[in-house]
Amino acid sequence: MGKSYKIAVIPGDGTGPEVIREGIKALNAASAKFDFKLDLREYDFGGERYKKTGEVLPPSAVEELKKFDAIYLGAIGHPDVKPGILEKGILLTLRFALDQYVNLRPVKLYPGVWTPLKDKGPEDIDFVVVRENTEGLYTGTGGVMKKDTPDEVAVQTSVNTRKGVERCLRFAFEITKKRNKKNTLTLCGKTNVLTFAFDLWERAFHQIGQKDYANIKRDYAHVDATCMWMVKNPEWFDVIVTDNMFGDIITDLGAMIQGGMGIAAGGNLNPEGVSMFEPIGGSAPKYTGQNVINPLAAICAGQMMMDILGETKAAAAIEKAVMKVTSEKLKSLSAGKMGYSTTQVGDMVAEFV
Ligand code: IPM
Ligand code: MN
Repeated sequence: MGKSYKIAVIPGDGTGPEVIREGIKALNAASAKFDFKLDLREYDFGGERYKKTGEVLPPSAVEELKKFDAIYLGAIGHPDVKPGILEKGILLTLRFALDQYVNLRPVKLYPGVWTPLKDKGPEDIDFVVVRENTEGLYTGTGGVMKKDTPDEVAVQTSVNTRKGVERCLRFAFEITKKRNKKNTLTLCGKTNVLTFAFDLWERAFHQIGQKDYANIKRDYAHVDATCMWMVKNPEWFDVIVTDNMFGDIITDLGAMIQGGMGIAAGGNLNPEGVSMFEPIGGSAPKYTGQNVINPLAAICAGQMMMDILGETKAAAAIEKAVMKVTSEKLKSLSAGKMGYSTTQVGDMVAEFV
């Protein structure tokens, strides 16, 4: 018998439980085939629990989650709960408390998937974004004064530490080397305006690159230009590294060019600790309980989890199965238009694994 992995499962809100169920199907198929064991433990964190108890996360949650090998998350966000409470109280709290300092988001167009980019295909759209995940504008640094008066002031500061920037950059160089595709790392910033923050990023980028990654080509693009090139020439990119806010924005654009929220997955990584894997899309209350939502993004998040845990053969088999489903089966990746139900898509992936 191979290794055993302890996985905390947080299905969460809306369609989260439906897509996680299919993700677990694919993972179980891989575990049977590749001889490793999954020890799953479910947690009920999310909107329903908050409505019942008034608590977003129990005080013991973070310490308890630290004991797992990984966390598998569905979706967070409830129509009856004011926006921000659950996102900040669960998602951001866990990212920060578990020091998941990289958000890894592959942008890869699978065969058979429609992209809004004319004349671009799977050979053109295959890059990854390394988003810094614990600093920048997300730290909650700042404040407000004279609230609700005409003189109101609101300040929200982007925090960039040498340590935080360097560890993110190093991760990005490493993954560029490991991919061994174009061996090009693009720093996405705004050095012409954010002359403090991105000056730090740029200096650290070249220092680390020069010293330890001489074979990786270093490239730079402003964030606005990055958006332009992602649409016009996505084939130029191999790995993009950027700060938290820019990474948030460009990965939604990335999700759209790879076929939408039905397929886009990401990992909140702490390479020295516990990482958390999730589909990028939200809880989709509109489609909840109808068995029409696309589970492929959750399945791909599970695939990334197995890859990062070191079960690379299992990960490759899940990806291959997903590609078979996109190229031979699905009519569309959109909820309700796939030609199959959520459950059927999960069944097909599990069978192909
Ligand atoms: C994401 C989401 C989150 C973020 C929100 C829900 C806080 O948009 O994972 O990209 O901004 O990071
Ligand atoms: Mn986002």
